[in-house]
Formats: sequence, structure tokens, C-alpha cells
Amino acid sequence: MRNLNIRSHFEEYQDISELSKDDQELYRNAVEARDKAYAPYSEFSVGAALRLENGLIVSGNNQENAAYPSGMCAERVAVWSALSQYPDVKIKKLFITARSEKKEVKRPVSPCGSCRQTLAEYETRQKQPMEVYFTGETGIILKAASVRDLLPFMFDNTLL
Ligand code: THU
Repeated sequence: MRNLNIRSHFEEYQDISELSKDDQELYRNAVEARDKAYAPYSEFSVGAALRLENGLIVSGNNQENAAYPSGMCAERVAVWSALSQYPDVKIKKLFITARSEKKEVKRPVSPCGSCRQTLAEYETRQKQPMEVYFTGETGIILKAASVRDLLPFMFDNTLL
């Protein structure tokens, strides 16, 4: 037996003002998307904004449904929207933010497992890391340089 220690690295920012102007713009797009979410059941609105390598921003938000599993997370709405319109354009980064009607979201909201798996496949396909920034309504911002940092031992298509 031997132990394997897997490391992930994250950068922590105290405030949006510490980010570049471009990244602040991406954050504002994520907030705008968040505030247009359709989340009447959880009352938890999530916004995701992607920066493509051609400079464009594509955003998405969570879309819920009375039949709960029929809803979709913000990250997958955003990434599928981007890649259905621009299938050959790489995604440079993703910004995620969230807000709840019930209580202040003070800590970073990281993508759920299914979103990580989805993002990871596109990261592999584009052969270039996708940076992931995530924050709450208030509080710190965390940045992963790659989806891999969020999903060690991802299931990948080289196994198929
Ligand atoms: N949600 C997202 O949009 N992204 C995540 O990564 C986690 C959860 C949504 C799904 C649901 O509409 C609400 O947040 C509460 O789970």
C-alpha cells in the first residue's frame, strides 16, 4: 500500500476590486445572469458567465421546474449555450455567483459534481485549462486555474 496525496491549488481574493477589469466585467455578467434565474422552488439563484477566447461573454442561470430533476444548473446552461453557438471557440474562464432569498450567501458557491464533470470534458476537449472563479453574494472569491483542481479523478473518455 502507498498513500497518494492529490493537491489542488486555489487563489483567494478578498474583493472583486482585486481582479482585472476584464474579470470584473465577467463578474458583473454573472451577477446579471444570476438575477434573471428562474428559481422559484429553491429560491437560490445562480449565475455563470463564460469568457470565450474570442473575447465574447456568454452567460446562463439556473432554470428550475416543478418536476425538480427537470431543472438545470447555471453552469451547464451557460456552457451549453456557449458551445452550441460557438462549438470551436475555447472557453478561457468561468465566473459563478449565487444569491438566496432565505439567507445571505457569504461563502463561495462551487459548481456541483455534475457541472464539474461537464466542464471537465470540455476542458479536455479544448486542450486548454478553463479558469473557474466562484463566489457567493458577498465574501471572498476563489479561483481555480483548471477544472481539474475541482475534480480529481474525473471520469474521462479515454477510458471508453
Ligand atoms: N445550482 C446551480 O445552478 N449550480 C450549482 O452548481 C449548484 C446548484 C442550482 C440548482 C438549483 O436550481 C439550485 O441551485 C439549488 O440547488
